[in-house]
Amino acid sequence: MSDEQQGGITTVLKEDRSFPPPQEFQTRASVKSMEEYEQLWQKSIDDSETFWTEQAETLLDWDQRWETLLEWNAPFAKWFVGGKLNACHNCVDRHLLTWRKNKAAIVWEGEPGDSRVLTFSDLHREVCKFSNALKSIGVTKGQRVTIYMPMIPELAIAVLACARIGAPHSVVFGGFSSEALADRNNDAEASVMITADGGWRRGKIIPLKDNVDECLTKSPTVKNVIVYKRTGQEISMESGRDHWWHELVEEQSADCPAEPMDSEDPLFLLYTSGSTGKPKGILHTTAGYLLGATLTTRYIFDLKEEDTYWCTADVGWITGHSYIVYGPLSNGATTVMYEGAPNWPDAGRFWDVIEKYRVNILYTAPTAIRAFIKSGDQWPKKHDLTSLRLLGTVGEPINPEAWMWYHEVIGGGRCPIVDTWWQTETGSIMISPLPGATPTVPGCATRPFFGIQPQIVDKEGKEVTQGRGGFLVMAKPWPSMLRNIWGDEERFKQTYWSQVAGKYFTGDGARRDEKGYFWILGRVDDVINVSGHRLSTMEVESALVSHDDVAEAAVVGRPHEVKGEAITCFVTLEEGKQPSPELKTELSKHVVDQIGALARPEEIRFTDSLPKTRSGKIMRRLLRDVAAGRESQGDTSTLEDFTVLAQLRDGDE
Ligand code: WT7
Repeated sequence: MSDEQQGGITTVLKEDRSFPPPQEFQTRASVKSMEEYEQLWQKSIDDSETFWTEQAETLLDWDQRWETLLEWNAPFAKWFVGGKLNACHNCVDRHLLTWRKNKAAIVWEGEPGDSRVLTFSDLHREVCKFSNALKSIGVTKGQRVTIYMPMIPELAIAVLACARIGAPHSVVFGGFSSEALADRNNDAEASVMITADGGWRRGKIIPLKDNVDECLTKSPTVKNVIVYKRTGQEISMESGRDHWWHELVEEQSADCPAEPMDSEDPLFLLYTSGSTGKPKGILHTTAGYLLGATLTTRYIFDLKEEDTYWCTADVGWITGHSYIVYGPLSNGATTVMYEGAPNWPDAGRFWDVIEKYRVNILYTAPTAIRAFIKSGDQWPKKHDLTSLRLLGTVGEPINPEAWMWYHEVIGGGRCPIVDTWWQTETGSIMISPLPGATPTVPGCATRPFFGIQPQIVDKEGKEVTQGRGGFLVMAKPWPSMLRNIWGDEERFKQTYWSQVAGKYFTGDGARRDEKGYFWILGRVDDVINVSGHRLSTMEVESALVSHDDVAEAAVVGRPHEVKGEAITCFVTLEEGKQPSPELKTELSKHVVDQIGALARPEEIRFTDSLPKTRSGKIMRRLLRDVAAGRESQGDTSTLEDFTVLAQLRDGDE
């Protein structure tokens, strides 16, 4: 098989096209050359104390200055110790003292075509009223609040209101099922849930409140539910427990002081999948997180005051937290929010939104780009995309074909592309080009951001030589790093800090080329990346075995041209149960009920037994080969990187 046929990772590594920043872009950029970047980066590593001190002084408003920049008792970090600030104040209030008070903060478009614009002063009023509404039902500092909402401005308002009163939010993506919502809510022990009657997706209503009702039969901690009326269908409201948003807010004053929070007070929890079935509540704290989000947004998207910036993620993911809400608003930027599906009512919707609001910066996922390529160039070609000046991608490796299409068809050849590598745990972007400085290479996340020191190491923790694959780790703590896993310190230590002593283990494989560019190879653990969404194979396996007919299940990812990876399930049945197409459908639905539509299996295969090692461990490498239609252990000479990954993953198989 040739490299071309293999596509993906193999082609990526043969990539020798390089795109220097366009002159016009470079002239106006805040960092204008590789020399400048290298100098700044070196300084930020050699004297990180000065670097972070200066950034925190320049970029954030503090109620009280910190005393100690960093207390690092690995793996526990405390940044800006003794400092006080409020994230909501930084995202909203401080802009009211400038001409920005009537600048658009949020430009929102609903899926049915309705739209709203909230200025910073509108946002301030709404956030204050809603903060008071939360207080009126007894929410106090430190109490967790679960948010399960569609992509409407009230989602951002709810997040900011929690930050304002010091109640850590836990946003659960609206695509998760009631079961998944209950798991996350129970782990966080939230007493309040904020939701909506529904949200629009492909012309249909996602029944959020119905899901909440279902969830609450398993979530006894919740005493109050606030419901925003979005879709208007009949829902049930339990008196004493459920409150309409508009009724609760109506009576509130628009005056609500922002609570001065300690730097290390929790700002939010966000659940993400790990290599076991149970999702992890990633804990981010106030000052460090906000600094990371603010700083990276400013430099990596090279923000200008007049920019209209659109990140197409959902606020239910970390990308939406950092790059729809906190990062852009803290910088006083105009952030676009879109409620619905990218291909509704047709494949031109994104391009329509860009043309309509004259979007200058677009940040989206490779899976979306690949879906657009499939639907054809005629869709973007129908729209005026000349307002765009910068493009970004995130969530998974981008294949060079998709990168080139994005560059040419969407960017008209004039927009730099920032391929940004980071994770829920890192809080903000870690490896990315700086658009005015870094020559980009299709499929490559290039160089570390300021203050970030990634390394590639082997199993013993020794740095590998240039060009070789290894584990991606971080050698230095950084302000927006996760602080813990909610309620599970052991797992925190185990997952991130025991692979290599004193260094943060990312779970990704990577290699470095002769330019010092980092190439991300993919996960080395049992996590798969489906359409840029992180899923644990064990999570899907436990969903499958919770079905009465299933004896054992093994789940692997296989390469998929649009989704990146697709879920393939190998299932053995209980004695006496017969495989059938109906059972496949039923199992598929069962997984969706347990987790959500994002976990819908692409393929279910019934088998009499699963391949195992003598110690009883499932041999996933074999299953991945079977799922991908690759010949197992046969000729893999053209699959160099699959084998690197396989070795990293399965060294002990
Ligand atoms: C995993 C993190 C925070 C971004 C949204 C996903 C993969 C992320 C890239 C990239 C190659 C990437 C990694 C990472 N990933 N960005 N630019 N190139 N891979 O956040 O759900 O926490 O997933 O996404 O495998 O570990 P997440």
